Amino acid sequence: MTREELIQALIPERVRQGAAYQVPDATGMIKLDAMENPYTWPQSLRDELATRLADCELNRYPDPHAEAIRTPLKQWMEIPETLDLIFGNGSDEIIALLISNLIGTGRSVCAPDPSFVMFQVLANQYTVPFRALPLDSDFDIDIDGWMDGLMEADPALIFIPQPNNPTGNLFSKDRLAQIVESTQALIVIDEAYTAFTDADYLDWAVRYPNVVVMRTLSKVGLAGSRFGMLIGHPDWIVEFDKIRLPYNINVLSQTAVQFALEHASTLEEQSGMIRQERMRLTTLLTERGYTVWGSEANFVVMECGDQSARALFEGLKQHRILVKCLDGSHPRLANTLRLTVGAPEESDALLAALDQLVSG
Ligand SMILES: Cc1ncc(COP(=O)(O)O)c(C=O)c1O
Repeated sequence: MTREELIQALIPERVRQGAAYQVPDATGMIKLDAMENPYTWPQSLRDELATRLADCELNRYPDPHAEAIRTPLKQWMEIPETLDLIFGNGSDEIIALLISNLIGTGRSVCAPDPSFVMFQVLANQYTVPFRALPLDSDFDIDIDGWMDGLMEADPALIFIPQPNNPTGNLFSKDRLAQIVESTQALIVIDEAYTAFTDADYLDWAVRYPNVVVMRTLSKVGLAGSRFGMLIGHPDWIVEFDKIRLPYNINVLSQTAVQFALEHASTLEEQSGMIRQERMRLTTLLTERGYTVWGSEANFVVMECGDQSARALFEGLKQHRILVKCLDGSHPRLANTLRLTVGAPEESDALLAALDQLVSG
């Protein structure tokens, strides 16, 4: 057989027909597309980190349980004593782990629509049935739609980002409680944006037998080290730990995360600046006539009105600014752009470019 024939025979059609996850090239651009923290650490901290990284034992496998991180993380996030954690190579890996658990069971996974794309992407990859759950006109949980959807899909797993990506809003607490109390599925409250909201559902993982909480350090300045976590009752965690790859958090990441937690005040300070900047950016966009959706995350969605989102997206690229064009990704996101909240000077550059594009 030729290699082509072997690939045809051995790689499933859904994989051959699919495409790899696309990340646009942002070299030299102001990067406002991926909800990263724009700030680096002061030089003195970077020097100290360099020394710590140089001392890492790269010849050894890392600690499979990343024990050195556990206690400081629990303290910093005020995780209740009765809850346990497992770590992932980003929360993407935790999502993959949770969904992979359903392979071959015939059980499905649900998530709001629209929501973070990886829930559906990974379900498709693992051939686990996926069901989208509708949102109402305020992008809140549509209770009747969810009850119908849950009845039909009978899912084993439901992801609920709180706040949601890409809409930025929090789902109302009473509706969320109604869903939690009416399903036998495991509910994963995805608090990826916890640093930018006062909402906190950790106590639900204590109170409800079917709730766990997922978090990430990606949005507070550690996207490059890929570190996410699942927080839940030890009985849940022990099961998921069985299907985790043994050395999934490499020693450089473990060291960087441990170091960052020793300097958590820097992370908090930077998240605080982003929250401030979210307000300023929202005001300045609104003053220009754009409709900006209320956000509890480190991004805002802007409706482009009589401007074309796609044209603005392309125009911004010419100005070396990369944002996310949501137009075409979902009917309810037509003609919108998602803007990561960056540093004030990045917002200023964005606003100046928008003004030029609109006037020119
Ligand atoms: C809601 C939500 N969950 C999870 C993630 C993935 O985060 P990580 O970088 O930890 O894989 C994202 C990333 O944007 C997200 O928006």
